[in-house]
Amino acid sequence: MDSDIAEILFTEEEIEQKNRELATQIDHDYSDRDIVAIGILRGCMFFMADLLRLLKVNLTMDVMVVSSYDETDTVSSGEIEIQKDFSIDVKNKDVLIVEDIVDTGLTLYHVKEHLKKRGAKSVKICTMLDKPSRRNLDVVSDYNGFVIPNEFVVGYGLGYANRYRNLKYIGILKPEIYQN
Ligand code: XMP
Ligand code: MG
Repeated sequence: MDSDIAEILFTEEEIEQKNRELATQIDHDYSDRDIVAIGILRGCMFFMADLLRLLKVNLTMDVMVVSSYDETDTVSSGEIEIQKDFSIDVKNKDVLIVEDIVDTGLTLYHVKEHLKKRGAKSVKICTMLDKPSRRNLDVVSDYNGFVIPNEFVVGYGLGYANRYRNLKYIGILKPEIYQN
């Protein structure tokens, strides 16, 4: 697995430190209200688990499964598919979407609209990574860990062909892995 990585961008320690910073900000901003955290699987799984356990505010949580591109593709298809919707009530609640990365913005744009339609009082976004160079839609991550260059990255939940998700670090996947 490690031999398929061209460069490590963020180590386990750097990710841990970033999660603590994000949690401090979120605890501060939500000190007067509860959070409904909605994670977008599968990419969010480790980030969500680590971040939410650092928070001191009261929260409830649920997940959605959303895909925006074929598992063996590295470019978004332009459409999203909700494969599993969340099931808790978000009406008049303060929702925080937890997602691995904002890339073109397609996924988070649609998920945010979806939550607003279900009556959420507020919807904010928390992402581990932001790849601003490919943004097509006007999506801003309210709480973002790291800004990354236009490279395909894996690890810490992010996967290619559903592999590499369990790497403890985030690294650039060697292009020859997906260019064949
Ligand atoms: P957008 O913002 O384009 O992002 O809707 C859609 C989803 O694409 C995935 N994504 C990546 N996954 N390495 C990955 O492993 C990447 O560099 C990358 N860029 C985008 C991610 O799941 C995101 O939710
Ligand atoms: Mg994702």
